[in-house]
Amino acid sequence: MTPRGTLGKDRAFLRPLSRGRLLLPDNGHVSNSLRPFSPRLADRLRQTLVDADYTVSGVRDRLGDMAARALSREQLIPALRATGGEERLGVLLRLWRLQEPVSEASARAMLPVAELAEAGLLSVEDGRVRALVHLSPWELNEGEQTGYVVSDPTVRPGQGRLRADHVVGAGGASATLSKLIVDGPVDRALDLGTGCGVQSLHLAARAAEVCATDVNPRALRLAEISCALSGVDNMRTREGSLFEPVRGERFDLIVSNPPFVITPDSARYTYRESDFAGDTVCSELVRQAPRHLTDGGWCQILANWLHVGGEDWRDRVGAWVAGTGCSGWVVQRDVQDPAEYVELWLRDSCEQGTPEYTRRYDAWLDYFDREGVRAIGFGWICLRNDVAQDATVRVEDLRHEIEQPVGPYLPDVVDGAMTAHRLTDAALLSAHVALAPGVVEERIGVPGAPDPERILLRQRNGLRRVAQVGTVEAALASVCDGTMPVSPLLDAIAELTEQDTAVVRQRTPEILRSLIAEGFFRVTR
Ligand SMILES: C[S@@+](CC[C@H](N)C(=O)[O-])C[C@H]1O[C@@H](n2cnc3c(N)ncnc32)[C@H](O)[C@@H]1O
Repeated sequence: MTPRGTLGKDRAFLRPLSRGRLLLPDNGHVSNSLRPFSPRLADRLRQTLVDADYTVSGVRDRLGDMAARALSREQLIPALRATGGEERLGVLLRLWRLQEPVSEASARAMLPVAELAEAGLLSVEDGRVRALVHLSPWELNEGEQTGYVVSDPTVRPGQGRLRADHVVGAGGASATLSKLIVDGPVDRALDLGTGCGVQSLHLAARAAEVCATDVNPRALRLAEISCALSGVDNMRTREGSLFEPVRGERFDLIVSNPPFVITPDSARYTYRESDFAGDTVCSELVRQAPRHLTDGGWCQILANWLHVGGEDWRDRVGAWVAGTGCSGWVVQRDVQDPAEYVELWLRDSCEQGTPEYTRRYDAWLDYFDREGVRAIGFGWICLRNDVAQDATVRVEDLRHEIEQPVGPYLPDVVDGAMTAHRLTDAALLSAHVALAPGVVEERIGVPGAPDPERILLRQRNGLRRVAQVGTVEAALASVCDGTMPVSPLLDAIAELTEQDTAVVRQRTPEILRSLIAEGFFRVTR
């Protein structure tokens, strides 16, 4: 395990579930009953949405930057101003995205209103049509394709409370996980805790078949509708907790954005909380995953973990993975103190300003105090079922901005860590290594000084790591292209820099091992 220092923050990761909240029944437009949604109706609705340019790019262009940013702050006015009039895209945006009623005449002019009302997606009253679900375009394949995600409707602060079986829409955490998924093609993929089905949309292009599970039957219906509207026909749903619905089955790819929120209450809101205490929903997922993975299969989950007094979080989470026998990569992307954490999730469930707010806030902090919790980490855990005796686990803090999507280069990250872990000093000296593509050198020092104060190697892509190195490693970086083994290169560098060859040979393998594990160098043979 190699802890690293960190730079900056990806705050989007902290807004995991803030979209698509549901009004309570007394707000008058909740759809409790979703009825069968025929493929013909799905095709027709999709065609209408696409024809009206209700797509990722169409919506982006129509809203513009200011309204889109305001919407992310839950402010509707700029978006309403940008979508006025009776033109089709504006009407669709107001209806499905902004959850505003539209006139029955303009809805009927483009949508099969009666059939959608029968399916439980719309309601019609007094010449006004309201959406009973939130329906939004979602970017697939790096923007090459638009999918549609259907979830429970949005509620803004002060408008009501969430219901217990609320199905959350796709948000920052969904995007983080979808960008983490390794490339296919594979035979079978599992989307555990599918919710609105967003991960299934991403998995459907990678896997011959996708199994989507959830404890919430309402989530399964909405996930099916999301898939139908997105033209996905290789996804099937199953109801149940964690791996229960897939007992005895194996998958090449398992992804999950589980209900990881750590609260004193049990499963108050299914979309984010479970009956598992503390962070054990995540440790349980990790513990059970290997018996559902094919050889070489991947499990990729988002997680929260506790920082408890007297314990290093790396040991805590590292132990979850080490127990699996899989190779693992654990990344902490953010850390919050208990008060920040409680505020985030009380805001997420629209409890700010309610009479319950102070009591819940206090009780939540009491709970963290009792458990000795100092902070809560957010991040991801990736496992690969390598069937190797010497599987390695890398646990690190990486809070700066990294290249997205991570999935395409993620296997190289794990391979680098595995390779470094396996190489003895002797094997390293006789190995052929090359500088990884995209690595540059930076020298920092006083202008005109004969020697730099610091030499840095910087990755211009991927994880964008920076490592401070000595003159030997910098010289190695400038000459190694995989054609010669490390040891004669080191001898030449020692001679040039007037250092003792034996000392250089003895000191360099450990540093080089760490640089290989971090992806600055690659072993070519
Ligand atoms: C945070 S949402 C994730 C939704 C979606 N997969 C995404 O990436 O945005 C977590 C989902 O897990 C489901 N869930 C809660 N407890 C569960 C359990 N014990 N087993 C399986 N799914 C569960 C919730 O109903 C919810 O749909």
